[in-house]
This record gives sequence, C-alpha cells and structure tokens, in this order.
Amino acid sequence: MKKVILAVLVIAIGLFFALPNLSWAQEDVYKAKCAACHGADGKGSAAGLKMGALPFSSPAVQKMSDAELVDFIENGGPQKKAMHAFANKGVSAGDAAKLATYVKTLK
Ligand code: HEC
Repeated sequence: MKKVILAVLVIAIGLFFALPNLSWAQEDVYKAKCAACHGADGKGSAAGLKMGALPFSSPAVQKMSDAELVDFIENGGPQKKAMHAFANKGVSAGDAAKLATYVKTLK
C-alpha cells in the first residue's frame, strides 16, 4: 500500500512540474496580456503606439538584452512604470523570460 501511495505521489509531483511547461504557449500569454497595446505582430496597436510603445522590430528593442526586456515586462523598465509592472498582473518570472524571447522573434 505504501508503495502505491508513493508511486502516485511521484507521478503527481512529476506532472505538477511537467504540465505548466507543456501547456505554456508564449503566444497565448502574449495575445491575452500584451497584444492589445503591442499588436499580435509586435508592431504596436494604435493605442500602444500613442502611449509610446516601440515596435518590437525596431533596432532599439532588438538590441535590448534579455535582462532589460524582462525588467521592462516585470517592473516597467528603467522608469518603473506601474502600468507596465506585469509581475503584479499575473506574469511570473518564468513567463517574463519566455515573453522576452518571444518579443524578439516579432520582427
Ligand atoms: C496598456 C498597454 C500595454 C500592455 C498591455 C503591454 N505593454 Fe509593453 N509597453 C507599453 C508602452 C506604452 C511601452 C513603452 C513605455 C516606455 O517606453 O516607457 C511598452 C514597452 C514595452 C517593452 C520595451 C520596448 C518598447 O516597445 O518600448 C517591452 C519589451 C514590452 N512593452 C513588452 C510587453 C509585454 C511582453 C507585454 C505583455 C505581458 C506588454 N508589454 C503589455 C504598453 C503596453
């Protein structure tokens, strides 16, 4: 009996770590939380551009390091813009890192 419980536990813990990675699609998170301002293609929606977002294809964004992009996504960049502090809006550190990589592919 103990062995069965142990086996179930091991499987449950394994799934707990494996599933978020399997089901995570950068595009889904991006579309849900970012596309309204940055556009599905990363070029920026009319509203986003008006607020001062740069197209992700621009050299300024493409030459940002991953750390700088993550900081922008999580904390609102060097100026710590609260509007852009997605760490407080359901974007985990892991998601922010994946989004930073994704952003650079939108060019
Ligand atoms: C409410 C509109 C809005 C949403 C939603 C939004 N952003 Fe932004 N984002 C902006 C604006 C405006 C700037 C420019 C701010 C600045 O330069 O200080 C910006 C800047 C950025 C930058 C720095 C490069 C640039 O374009 O200026 C990155 C990277 C970025 N956003 C990624 C994201 C990601 C990833 C998400 C989703 C988690 C997201 N943003 C959601 C409006 C938004």
